[in-house]
Amino acid sequence: MYPGSEIYGGLAGTWDYGPLGLTLKNNIKNSWWKKFVRDRDDMNGMDAAILMNAKVWEASGHIAGFSDPLVECKNCHKKFRADHISGGKTETGKLELPKECPECGKFGTWLPESKFNMMFKTNIGPVEDKSSISYLCPETAQGMFVNFKNIMDSFHPRLPFGLAQIGKAFRNEISPRDFLFRAREFEQMEIEYFTRESEWKKIFENFRAEILKWLSDIGLGKNSVHELEVPAEDRAHYSKKTVDFEYDFPFGRNELCGLAYRTDFDLKNHKLDYYDEETKERFIPHVIEPSFGLDRLVLALLAEAYNEDELGGETRIFLKLKPNVAPVKVAVFPLLKNKPELVEKAKEVWRIIQSATDGLVMFDDNGNIGKRYRRQDEIGTPYCVTIDFDTLEDDTVTVRDRDTGKQERVKVGELASLLKNSLK
Ligand code: GAP
Repeated sequence: MYPGSEIYGGLAGTWDYGPLGLTLKNNIKNSWWKKFVRDRDDMNGMDAAILMNAKVWEASGHIAGFSDPLVECKNCHKKFRADHISGGKTETGKLELPKECPECGKFGTWLPESKFNMMFKTNIGPVEDKSSISYLCPETAQGMFVNFKNIMDSFHPRLPFGLAQIGKAFRNEISPRDFLFRAREFEQMEIEYFTRESEWKKIFENFRAEILKWLSDIGLGKNSVHELEVPAEDRAHYSKKTVDFEYDFPFGRNELCGLAYRTDFDLKNHKLDYYDEETKERFIPHVIEPSFGLDRLVLALLAEAYNEDELGGETRIFLKLKPNVAPVKVAVFPLLKNKPELVEKAKEVWRIIQSATDGLVMFDDNGNIGKRYRRQDEIGTPYCVTIDFDTLEDDTVTVRDRDTGKQERVKVGELASLLKNSLK
């Protein structure tokens, strides 16, 4: 990952993904989509526009309520998110501000607290006036709510059912920080699951268990993920119950993803409802919303996977990523790049592994073998396969395991099935 617009000094709160970061991110997306959409018969996927009519955000409550508390130092005019610099709350529930400005150190200099709306505003078309204002979506959720009727009319799903979307979200964070953790442009993976009011608790608990299971499936340890029931005063304006799944990031425990009971808040405000053909009832479904920040998952996985050990008398860094998320599944090396017979055989082995593996197989002939192993360790490649002079004699290769550094000789004919099993 690189800072966004880096050669021009960057743009705070934006990050660009390079080839490996993108592949890691895509692997997380694919695992999520498989678990929560493809493998279920009660889910439909969709992809809504990022620019939406301003009326959507009026109805959703975002224009009125999607804001953070802002304070400004009278002396240096630096602005802060009040809850980020506050040491706690007063008895009346007001945020207690530090006595000194964290920027200039001046004593007692705060201007009165205000609310800062986090949505990014833009204008649609050539005329910049009130009527052309639009907002970049601050959550993917509303794209699904406003398409509820379209989906009902074209697919006729029966309750309970869910819609899922993976897409960009934009928030004008007062202080983006901690690398990918708090960005101004990021990706969300969200589900809006529609049900009868009487069923919400059961579905909430079910998703709660499924979320924990999936986090562990992609490699986030049970000991570093914690559930937190969010107190009423800290919940979003639409939620009646929220459980945050927090992760022990290197900079402290913080929110990774969330599960909210949004009641009928959104559909009611968009004036949408559901007609039950069997009971002939018309009512507004209630919504359970599992919401995941993709970039926070990338960050958590990197933190979780980072390892150092001693190998061959040296400290080595390796990413202990699970094979299902590792960007590169297998790397193939010819022992020497200036021996055409080795390179040719290595390309043949690469093709065999590539067609048997569901993911990226890298060919690398740069530098000595030790360096190539280290490079793959650092990007978390589970297996390296080396083609040497013995391969030309007996058709065996060396397979090296990332975590143990152990090497074994394997017949080329057995490679595909061995790697397929090990990468599961
Ligand atoms: N639709 C519900 C919703 O948007 P949220 O708690 O505001 O809820 C959901 O956001 C998830 O999006 C969070 O749990 C987090 O993973 C991610 N997220 C929120 N703000 C973010 C930011 N500024 N940068 C990166 N990820 C963010």
